[in-house]
Amino acid sequence: MTDPGILFEEAKKAREYSYSPYSRFAVGAALLTSDGKIISGCNVENSSFGITNCAERTALFKAVSEGERSFSAIAIAGARVLSDGTKEEAFCPPCGVCRQALLEFCKEDLSVIIGKEDGTYMVTTLGELMPIAFGL
Ligand code: THU
Repeated sequence: MTDPGILFEEAKKAREYSYSPYSRFAVGAALLTSDGKIISGCNVENSSFGITNCAERTALFKAVSEGERSFSAIAIAGARVLSDGTKEEAFCPPCGVCRQALLEFCKEDLSVIIGKEDGTYMVTTLGELMPIAFGL
């Protein structure tokens, strides 16, 4: 797998495009395909809050819509956006909806790289984050 730090940096770059005026919580995600491509996404909010799209699903749906269906890792970078515009790094594990969405296309051994408050990261797997998952 690519160095987790490289994928995490791509997630941070994607976070710059976050549209999050309501929560002021910016998220970027970078998905690594099995053949080494990186496809990233950010959260896209809406005044009708329920239709907000998380960064992970933006990246996943972009990737699938470009023909990619095999993935080895995802990195997620979250940050609180303070009133002066500066970012405070925040731990952002994928939400339950995104875990289920990822499971549709990714195996349980997908590496999940989650940024921590101090800008470092930890690595887990989708299987650890979503045990006994539903599937048809
Ligand atoms: N968010 C993500 O993009 N990914 C997650 O895994 C959790 C939450 C976004 C959704 C919303 O725009 C903001 O973070 C606050 O919930």
